[in-house]
Amino acid sequence: MIKLFKIISLSFIWHNRYVYYVFLQKKKIMSIIEKLQWRYATKKFDKTQQLSDDKLNTLKEAFNLTALSYGLQTLKLVVVKDKSVREGLIELSYGQRQVADASHLLVLCIQNEIDEKDITTHFDTIKTIRNTPDTVLEPFKKQLKSTIESMPVDKKIGWATKQAYIALGNLMTVCAVEGIDSCPMEGFIPKALDTALGIDKLGLSSVLLLPVGYRANDDMFSDLKKVRKQLSETIIEL
Ligand SMILES: Cc1cc2nc3c(=O)[nH]c(=O)nc-3n(C[C@H](O)[C@H](O)[C@H](O)COP(=O)(O)O)c2cc1C
Repeated sequence: MIKLFKIISLSFIWHNRYVYYVFLQKKKIMSIIEKLQWRYATKKFDKTQQLSDDKLNTLKEAFNLTALSYGLQTLKLVVVKDKSVREGLIELSYGQRQVADASHLLVLCIQNEIDEKDITTHFDTIKTIRNTPDTVLEPFKKQLKSTIESMPVDKKIGWATKQAYIALGNLMTVCAVEGIDSCPMEGFIPKALDTALGIDKLGLSSVLLLPVGYRANDDMFSDLKKVRKQLSETIIEL
């Protein structure tokens, strides 16, 4: 009888493990490393679960707080909620259903053009927020203008694309800390997705996708052990 009770209890705990994880995260009982262990590239989302506005706002703020080269914020985050639009993106994502089944789809985009206007806007913003005098800002502004102007287009795109990956890493970590599941994705056809979402008309190009939401109870990937090298193989201490 006691054995049966134990089996039933253990099975109940196992089936509700996700709820316990979120509980432990909320109580801040899990360490940051445990939270990073908890996260995984979610293959199957629970279609019925939605992110709260609070959680979504946290992700928006985190994206906006991402540290980017020169502080130039030339990235855009497109948040796609509409299910029917997202259903249409599955075939452009090689059949990966995460884009539609997650609560929201985050699309990390770069600007097709980065020019003098962006630099002027950036330095105007510094001036407004910090009240920094022109005499201090002007030399930096001039230097940045010449750096950006002298970059060939493909180098500029490569540079901007790297910035998108920084934002992706930041968002993935914040998701883990907040108990939100996500799946980083390069597996899609950017040009076709840009046209489908109409973001090409905004002068943007998608670089990465990040569906966010909550894992399905039967996502077999959630139970797989993390595959990582030993620290001794990835860290060099001099
Ligand atoms: C930039 C990037 C692109 C990725 N693209 C995809 C993708 O298109 N589809 C997918 O299912 N997983 C994708 N992944 C997930 C990786 O395969 C996964 O993160 C890696 O195997 C480590 O596993 P873990 O994240 O579960 O710890 C991508 C990951 C990164 C960082």
